[in-house]
Amino acid sequence: MKKILVALLLVAASGTAFAEDGAALFKSKCAACHGPDGKGATPMGKALKVKSLAGTKLSAAEIAKVAAEGKPGTRMVAIKGLSPEQLKAVAAHVKSLK
Ligand code: HEC
Repeated sequence: MKKILVALLLVAASGTAFAEDGAALFKSKCAACHGPDGKGATPMGKALKVKSLAGTKLSAAEIAKVAAEGKPGTRMVAIKGLSPEQLKAVAAHVKSLK
């Protein structure tokens, strides 16, 4: 019984850590340009003509690709140093922006 409880707690803890990871990554790696809410209403976002990411039609996979490789013809450069898991988490966070 105790073992099952510990296992459940571990699953619950890792689940929330994953969800928070995307939000934290977005804050540290993307928000300077895209704004904390993804709407791009930051001085940098305005200067770079960033469109709102809230309600984007891009799929999570497309968002992860833009983050990893950049968007050709714009100032969106490849964001370095993100693992595939982190790209997935940050893309999922972008999809959750309203
Ligand atoms: C240096 C500023 C900057 C940073 C940092 C930045 N972006 Fe961007 N991003 C831009 C600009 C500029 C564009 C191009 C204009 C546009 O499409 O909104 C863009 C475009 C995008 C697009 C394409 C939007 C579309 O509709 O085509 C996605 C997706 C995106 N960024 C995701 C991210 C994610 C995720 C991060 C963090 C991992 C990030 N960006 C970090 C500046 C930035």
